[in-house]
Amino acid sequence: MRLVVLISGSGSNLQAIIDSIASRHLDAEIVLVVSNRKSAYGLERAAAAGIPCLIFPFKPYRDAGQPRDLYDADLADQVAAHTPDLIVLAGWMHILSPAFLDRFPGQVINLHPALPGTFPGTDAIHRTYEAYRRGEVQHGGCMIHTVIPEVDAGEVIVKEIVPIMPDDTLEQFEEHIHSAEHRIIVEAIRRRIKQSQP
Ligand code: GRF
Repeated sequence: MRLVVLISGSGSNLQAIIDSIASRHLDAEIVLVVSNRKSAYGLERAAAAGIPCLIFPFKPYRDAGQPRDLYDADLADQVAAHTPDLIVLAGWMHILSPAFLDRFPGQVINLHPALPGTFPGTDAIHRTYEAYRRGEVQHGGCMIHTVIPEVDAGEVIVKEIVPIMPDDTLEQFEEHIHSAEHRIIVEAIRRRIKQSQP
């Protein structure tokens, strides 16, 4: 299975995919890593694994007064050129419009560090932790879902509840969330590979 992975940050989820391929737990190949931020450490991880990288920032489009869906369409061209079977948004911090999504129907999956229907959008880990402190939620979680234009709302492929202990700091809770992310992102790709087999 040909994977294109989109990142914006440290790339620890990308690393989880790289490691699972290297240890033969995933029968897949990452054919391209795209980052919209040139400073993303995940680019170092991709380079160390010998994976082709593309830095594709939105800023030049914004500075030229060009619309987001032109960026999304150009990004789709770049990604399509690598003929992916699956596009994995692993800490990708840019909402993709139909100008991108319509090019890859059902082929884009996203990692979100909250459970379905809770805390869509950014800063979900911190928002979950604060809600726990206010007694509004009993635990956190994360999920991998198919991407549709509505943010963090597509069909859920894998999810994992992440408990919060009363004496957990935000950092400790965040570590537990990231460990769960690394498990479910590999499991979601494994399920897609299984689905694609006759
Ligand atoms: C993850 O929590 C992801 O859900 C969020 O940022 C983090 C990405 O981590 N958007 P990494 O870049 O994979 O380490």
